[in-house]
Amino acid sequence: MILTKMADPQQTEIDGLLKQARKVAENSYSPYSHFKVGAALRLSNGEIVTGTNVENTSYGMTICAERAALVQAISRFGPAIRVLAVAVTNLNGAASPPCGGCRQVLAEFTEAGAPVAFPASDGIRVMQFAQLLPLATEMKLK
Ligand code: THU
Repeated sequence: MILTKMADPQQTEIDGLLKQARKVAENSYSPYSHFKVGAALRLSNGEIVTGTNVENTSYGMTICAERAALVQAISRFGPAIRVLAVAVTNLNGAASPPCGGCRQVLAEFTEAGAPVAFPASDGIRVMQFAQLLPLATEMKLK
């Protein structure tokens, strides 16, 4: 019997997004940390948007790559768009899971089951968005 190895569609998707995240990370403006981050989002209309971190001399006004990508998604396609998959990378070979602020901002538009790939201490890790930010959908404003 001949066994052919089937490509895992989610792995293929993540690999493609990571490649785009690495590319946009080259544009990082990070003169303070020298930490170049890139993010790529697969959207519900099939498009991919990317973003990189843009630092500021105030430090605190720095915009992370994930948020830069998300702002671009809404600016280009409007508020009905949903994020189906996220990939984050950096060019420093370090662990960089999305920060808490970015998780909160992504939560407005990201499916609970969306895979989120990021560099962890043991390599690229993929987690579902809801694992990264539990209870994100529980808040209801009355
Ligand atoms: N940074 C991101 O853009 N995304 C992450 O997931 C981790 C951190 C940026 C912020 C800052 O410019 C630099 O990386 C160091 O924290």
